[in-house]
Amino acid sequence: MSTTLPRKLFVTTALPYANGAFHIGHIMEYIQADIWVRFQRMQGNEVHFVGADDAHGTAIMIAAEKAGVTPEAFVAKIAAGRQQYLDGFHISFDNWHSTDSPENTELSQSIYLRLKAAGLIVTRTVERFYDPVKGMFLADRNVKGECPKCGAKDQYGDNCEVCGAAYEPTELKNPYSVFTGATPVMRPSEQYFFKLSDRRCVAFLQDWVNTPGRLQPEMVNKVSEWLGNDGHDLADWDISRDAPYFGIPIPDAPGKYFYVWLDAPVGYLASLKNYCAKKGIDYNAFLNDPATEQVHFIGKDIVSFHLLFWPAMLKFSGHPVIDKLKVNVHGHLTVNNEKMSKSRGTGISPLRYLELGMNPEWLRYYIATKLNAKVEDVDFNGEDFVARVNSDLIGKYVNIASRSAGFIAKKFGGKIVSDWATASDAFLSNLRDAAPEIQALYEHREYGKALRTVMERADSINVFVDANKPWELAKNPANDGALQEVCSRLLEAFRILTIYLKPVLPELAKQVESLLNIEALRWSDVGTPLPHGHRVNAYSHLMTRVDPKMLEALFDAPELASSAKETHPLPSPPPEGEGENGGFANNKIEALAPEIKIDDFSKIDLRIAKIINCEPVDGSDKLLRLTLDVGEGRLRNVFSGIKSAYKPEDLIGKLTVMVANLAPRKMKFGVSEGMMLAASAADEKTNPGIYVLNPWPGAEPGMRVR
Ligand code: MSP
Ligand code: ZN
Repeated sequence: MSTTLPRKLFVTTALPYANGAFHIGHIMEYIQADIWVRFQRMQGNEVHFVGADDAHGTAIMIAAEKAGVTPEAFVAKIAAGRQQYLDGFHISFDNWHSTDSPENTELSQSIYLRLKAAGLIVTRTVERFYDPVKGMFLADRNVKGECPKCGAKDQYGDNCEVCGAAYEPTELKNPYSVFTGATPVMRPSEQYFFKLSDRRCVAFLQDWVNTPGRLQPEMVNKVSEWLGNDGHDLADWDISRDAPYFGIPIPDAPGKYFYVWLDAPVGYLASLKNYCAKKGIDYNAFLNDPATEQVHFIGKDIVSFHLLFWPAMLKFSGHPVIDKLKVNVHGHLTVNNEKMSKSRGTGISPLRYLELGMNPEWLRYYIATKLNAKVEDVDFNGEDFVARVNSDLIGKYVNIASRSAGFIAKKFGGKIVSDWATASDAFLSNLRDAAPEIQALYEHREYGKALRTVMERADSINVFVDANKPWELAKNPANDGALQEVCSRLLEAFRILTIYLKPVLPELAKQVESLLNIEALRWSDVGTPLPHGHRVNAYSHLMTRVDPKMLEALFDAPELASSAKETHPLPSPPPEGEGENGGFANNKIEALAPEIKIDDFSKIDLRIAKIINCEPVDGSDKLLRLTLDVGEGRLRNVFSGIKSAYKPEDLIGKLTVMVANLAPRKMKFGVSEGMMLAASAADEKTNPGIYVLNPWPGAEPGMRVR
């Protein structure tokens, strides 16, 4: 921060695909960006923090088709669900827009036309993958195969989720169509390319990437690798797709659309433009202001799009902010060291977290303690989460207020004294002196270090608490003077700590501001103590501890957790030919999972199991404990989230189907040695029930289901 003038910041997160709800990985990215944004706002900087749905592309087209709606309707439904997450986790976007918008169409087409005028667009007839069985050209994500760079299997045709390389689908080894499994054949098709190999692009990127302070060192290395010696390794980028495609038409090119990754980052600008129009801000003036900085927060899987194509597009279309563009890359969130997976129940559903009444600021704090400026994965560990939140936030931070505020309110009419400044107040000046260090750590996204520094200071304040014992002083009215002074100092310390924590804990900070009866805290308020005679409000509870029980509920089978009100008996098969649609079930079902091969299916060992015993689980309102006989000469212990739907005694003695080769999973109540199968509707509103599978008579324990 070389300047003292307010900075002008245009900040974004990656635009999430509008083909599904947010998962906890998205929330982590938003928390990282939001902390930075709130920190900047507290500095008095001008910040415009915008997001949008990434609406285009084949994946969404296919998802919409499966759902039987138009892509527009599909995307609108997803968009309507966003706000509850953002509000829920206090993510303070100023605007949320969509890449399927007039602003984005206009901006994308105009950027394209400028690139074309700069001589950086060429057309070539290329051989494109075509599925001979389905009879259509295959988009990148319709082809899978082995990564040409690192050899990882089952990678999509656009970029590798393992090593991050970007490439063309035709570069995949052993490609196959995700629709039919067929080996794609080549068919000629005219395509539009952005000439990334042009020496102007290469020279620019080499310079841009190596500007000190712009990118994380790991990213400079990564991009330099891609650029290769003299940039010879850069290939031109195919930016067109053939109809049918849900996207933006390429001007003067009938039947051709921009590849989704061309217009996706333009969506950052589209959202800003849309926001400026709503707020009466001059969009062009803002972007052309030499003070404006543009900052993107993204994950490690989409680096090539943001560190090669996007800056080159901006540069050669004459974007004014290119010199002040920064991209901050984070690693991925894992849960208990596993990649998140809904089907394995290892992911955390952000909505479920909120529904359980868990405090969003616990998660903000926990994630922040784990974040740094490197591109490292972040692990959510349940026990660690409970320990961190309870020991830091409650044990160290809130403790300071709960030990002092009550006495000030009850004994001294809320009145603060501060005429003790002449006495030694080293612990307060130490606390204040930490401000520049903590500030620099937030600025550089070293949140973990920032919070460690804050908690170290909190430790020394707690030493002061224990040395002065306000609760002891309060026993003897002769000590009232000392008590008022000790508690006033503690509240002042608490006020400063609150400033330091406010980017992470915005709602808690609001409560503290109202407790202390002060205006919204800014960073510069560190040096302005509560004045002598200032009156604070009565203390009310600030934050509860995490109850470890909540975490259990968060983890076990989140998708099965149902609000079914009644239990029901095991169903008998319905008479054939009945149903709402003359025998056909209605077609509003959950979208099908991607196609698999028979080999994939045979990896799953399904067995008939006899339910030998079934009982409720002490302390869980969702689980039943089942003892299953799969004919192995031993019994298995399995937990299942079906308590809302079945009485244990109704299940005992029945046959059912289980996944018998699932890795055992340690849960709070014991190890689950398999999974029982049950059906449930995609939308609880259509049918809140859970239906356990029951084989036809004659099946025996241990038989394989194939
Ligand atoms: N639509 C593109 C981005 C276009 S930006 C112009 C996309 N969408 S996404 O929904 O797949 O991912 C959105 C962001 O979430 C990306 O930055 C991605 O890295 C991030 N994450 C996806 N999984 C994540 C974790 N498990 N952990 C942290 N971030 C994760 O890519
Ligand atoms: Zn790879």
